[in-house]
Amino acid sequence: MANSSFFTFLLLLLLYTIVASANNPNDDETVPSDNVFTLQVPTLDDSILDNLLSFGYYLKSCPEFESILHNKVKVWIQKDHTLAASLLRLQFHDCVVRGCDGSILLDHDGSERRAEASKKLRGFDVINEIKEELERSCPNTVSCADILSAAARDATVELGGPYWAVPYGRKDGRISIAKETQIIPIGRENITSLIEFFQSKGLTLLDLVVLSGSHTIGRSSCGSIQYRLYNYQGSGKPDPTIDPKYLNFLQRKCRWASESVDLDATTPNNFDNNYYINLSKRMGLLYTDQLLYSDPRTSPLVSALASTPSIFQHQFAVSMSKFGVIDVLTAQDEGEIRTNCNFVNAY
Ligand code: HEM
Ligand SMILES: *[C@@H]1O[C@H](CO)[C@@H](O)[C@H](O)[C@H]1NC(C)=O
Ligand SMILES: *[C@@H]1O[C@H](CO)[C@@H](O)[C@H](O)[C@H]1NC(C)=O
Repeated sequence: MANSSFFTFLLLLLLYTIVASANNPNDDETVPSDNVFTLQVPTLDDSILDNLLSFGYYLKSCPEFESILHNKVKVWIQKDHTLAASLLRLQFHDCVVRGCDGSILLDHDGSERRAEASKKLRGFDVINEIKEELERSCPNTVSCADILSAAARDATVELGGPYWAVPYGRKDGRISIAKETQIIPIGRENITSLIEFFQSKGLTLLDLVVLSGSHTIGRSSCGSIQYRLYNYQGSGKPDPTIDPKYLNFLQRKCRWASESVDLDATTPNNFDNNYYINLSKRMGLLYTDQLLYSDPRTSPLVSALASTPSIFQHQFAVSMSKFGVIDVLTAQDEGEIRTNCNFVNAY
């Protein structure tokens, strides 16, 4: 056990070193401006990114895209900091169903957005406002899926999280089916099924543990956790893995299912590694969060992330980069550039 966690630590250290040297956001010189041309002539670099996404995708067609988006995200979050977590979660729900194709944004009968799993999703207004302004500066150019990916990144940065470069060129999907949201984990799964779910999206055990670190910000409705507080699995008692003081706090806080409670008990508005530290204090809000600490497959990673904040920051950027390219639509006929993110284009 001690050996395996030491090994994991070395592994993370190695990843950290690689990422630290490869991913320096402050170095403007490294933004690959000639990538606009890689649409015709893919380079080796771009083939890693599914061939058709690229960092310079909007460089000519909408050079102000990132600054418009950045300013909007910033203003909204300054008004209401809880929107940052909501934007990040929106990206999660978008990408795991039909890939990062903006399908979560479609607002019609029977769409993902109307499903039970989406009830607590927020941030749609932010995306719509960004889209409206982009339609004024560069009409029919920037996809809603790209907007969502960049907004999730900027929201993370706004709360002190890491920056990662987002490649663009995602097309917006035309299909959104409520029932398909049923695959999204709700916090009552076992680790094996979470691992399998992440694997089905091309993500690893490390990605699972690191991306669960998103719960270092944001809130959960009490409805999602009340079952842990009183009659856990029909025992007539609370979930025994919850720290007694924290349990007491939660029982007082969660009288009603409609109330909400911070996912990270101590620093909900800071993108830090306290989430992992508090898991070791049995203060994980979701059952699945706490399981990451007790399951032998994930616990060495939790320990490493709890003890070294910089590893969390760097690895989160790496895992989100992978996450943002899940099953993207890139071919001309695979999708469209929506004019209004809530609806497919009418022809
Ligand atoms: C590993 C499996 C995961 C499970 C079981 C899970 C489950 C949940 C649940 C139950 C909530 C609270 C929903 C409510 O209000 O009732 C939540 C919130 C949240 N989740 Fe996850 N999640 C997972 C992975 C992720 C990932 C990969 C991300 C981001 C990439 C993410 C980002 C968030 C954020 C930011 C919130 C707070 C939302 C807000 O404050 O509006 N989650 N999650
Ligand atoms: C984990 O959950 C899955 C899906 O609910 C179930 O089929 C499986 O038996 C569970 N595994 C364990 C070890 O409990
Ligand atoms: C949660 O973790 C933070 C950071 O280590 C710590 O300051 C805080 O006391 C923890 N919360 C509790 C109630 O133990």
